[in-house]
Amino acid sequence: MSIPLLLFVLLLSLLPLSFSQQSCAHDIMPENKLYSLCNSLPQLSANLHWTYHPSNSTVDIAYRAPQSSDGWIAWALNPTATGMNGAETIFAFYDSKGVMTTVTYPITYTNTTVRNSSLSFKIYSMSSQFSNNVMSIYATIELPNNKTKVNHVWQSSTIFTNGMPSGHAATGANVRSTATLDLLSGESSGSGNSRLHRKNIHGVLNAVSWGILMPIGAIIARYMRVFKSADPAWFYLHVACQCSAYIVGVAGWGTGLKLGSDSKGITYDSHRDIGIALFSLATLQVFALLLRPKKDHKYRLYWNIYHHVIGYTVIILSVINIFKGFDILDPERKWKHAYIAIIVTLGGIAVALEAITWGIVLKRKRSDSSEKSHRGTNGVNGLNGTNGYGASRQHQVT
Ligand SMILES: *[C@@H]1O[C@H](CO)[C@@H](O)[C@H](O)[C@H]1NC(C)=O
Ligand SMILES: *[C@@H]1O[C@H](CO)[C@@H](O)[C@H](O)[C@H]1NC(C)=O
Ligand SMILES: *[C@@H]1O[C@H](CO)[C@@H](O)[C@H](O)[C@H]1NC(C)=O
Ligand SMILES: *[C@@H]1O[C@H](CO)[C@@H](O)[C@H](O)[C@H]1NC(C)=O
Repeated sequence: MSIPLLLFVLLLSLLPLSFSQQSCAHDIMPENKLYSLCNSLPQLSANLHWTYHPSNSTVDIAYRAPQSSDGWIAWALNPTATGMNGAETIFAFYDSKGVMTTVTYPITYTNTTVRNSSLSFKIYSMSSQFSNNVMSIYATIELPNNKTKVNHVWQSSTIFTNGMPSGHAATGANVRSTATLDLLSGESSGSGNSRLHRKNIHGVLNAVSWGILMPIGAIIARYMRVFKSADPAWFYLHVACQCSAYIVGVAGWGTGLKLGSDSKGITYDSHRDIGIALFSLATLQVFALLLRPKKDHKYRLYWNIYHHVIGYTVIILSVINIFKGFDILDPERKWKHAYIAIIVTLGGIAVALEAITWGIVLKRKRSDSSEKSHRGTNGVNGLNGTNGYGASRQHQVT
C-alpha cells in the first residue's frame, strides 16, 4: 500500500498550482498611455493594466488579449459575486459593418443575450482597438462603492448571434478566467485560482485512485493468483489495493460533488452521472467482499461473475470519466500524456501477463490430466489449495 501512497504524494507535489507569469510589464501601450499597475491574468493570455484614482474613486483600465478579427473579447467587474452571474461586462468586437465596437451588458444566468445596455456603475469613457491580432478595451469606470478589491471576469470567443457576442467554450481556460484583484497592490488571487486548485486536487485524487490503483488491483487479482506461490498474498494485495483506491476515490468523488454544487449554471452532466454511477458500483464491490460465499459454495460461480462484471465496468467507466475530466479541466498537455502513458503501460502489462498466465494454466491442465489418467483419481484434489483462475477454470472444465 505504500507504493500507491508514494505515487500519490509524488503526483500531488508535481502539480503546478500557479500558472501565472508577469509579462504585462513589457506591453507597449498605444499613444504612450501609461498605467500605474498591470497584471498578467492567469488565463487566456490576457493582461490588465490600470490606474486607480482615489480622489474620485475611478479606475482607468486597459484590457488586452490575443484575438482574431472575427472574434470578441470581454472584461467584466462583478460587484455582487464571483464568476459570470452578475458580471457587468464590456465587450469589444467588429460589428456587422466592420467597425470596431464597444458595448456594455450586465450578464445574468437568466439573461445571457448580449444587448447594448447600461451597467450599474458609471462609465466615463470607453473604446476598443484591434491590431496585430490583439484586441484591447480602454475604459474609465467608477469603482462600485469605491471598493479596491474587485472580482473580475474576462473572456474570449468567436461565437456571435445576430452580430452580438453570444456564448463561449464552457471548459478549460474559458471557465477559469475569473479572479479577485487588489487594485492597490496588484495582487490577483481568490476564487478563480482556489477553484482551479480544488479542481486539480479533484483530478489527481480521482486519476490516481479510479484511474491507476483500481486497474493495478485488477491486474494483481487476475494474474498473480495463477502463481501458486503468490497464494493467498495476491488476495490481500488485491483487497488492500482496491480498498485504498476506494477510500482515495471517495475523497475525490466528494471534491467533485462540492465543485458541482459550487458552480451553479455550469454543469457537466455526463461527467457527473458517470461519477455517481462509479461511486455506486464501487460501493457495491465493497459489499461484495463482505457477502462473498465460500470458495466451494454453489453460488460462488455467480458471485464471481457478478464481481468481475462490476469490476471491469468500474475500470472502463473510470478511464472514460478521467478523459472527460481532462477535457473539462484542460490542464497542460503533459498531464493527459502522462496518464495515457500509464494506462497504455498497464494495458501492455496486462496483455503480456494474459499470454504468460494462459501458458501456465494450459501447461498445468495438461500435466494434471496426464496425472489423472495415470492415477485414475480426481484431479481436482490437487488444485484445492489454489484459489487461482486456473483452478476455477479447472472446476468449470471438470
Ligand atoms: C476611496 O477610498 C480611498 C481609500 O480606500 C479613499 O482615500 C478615497 O477618499 C475614497 N474616494 C472616494 C471618492 O470616496
Ligand atoms: C479622477 O481624478 C483624476 C486625478 O486624481 C483625474 O486625472 C481624472 O480625470 C478624474 N477622472 C474623472 C472621470 O473625473
Ligand atoms: C433581458 O434583459 C433585457 C434588458 O437588458 C430585457 O429587456 C429583457 O426583458 C430581459 N429578458 C429576460 C428574459 O429577462
Ligand atoms: C449603446 O448605447 C448607448 C446609449 O444607450 C449609445 O450611446 C451607444 O452609441 C450605443 N452603442 C452601440 C455600439 O450601439
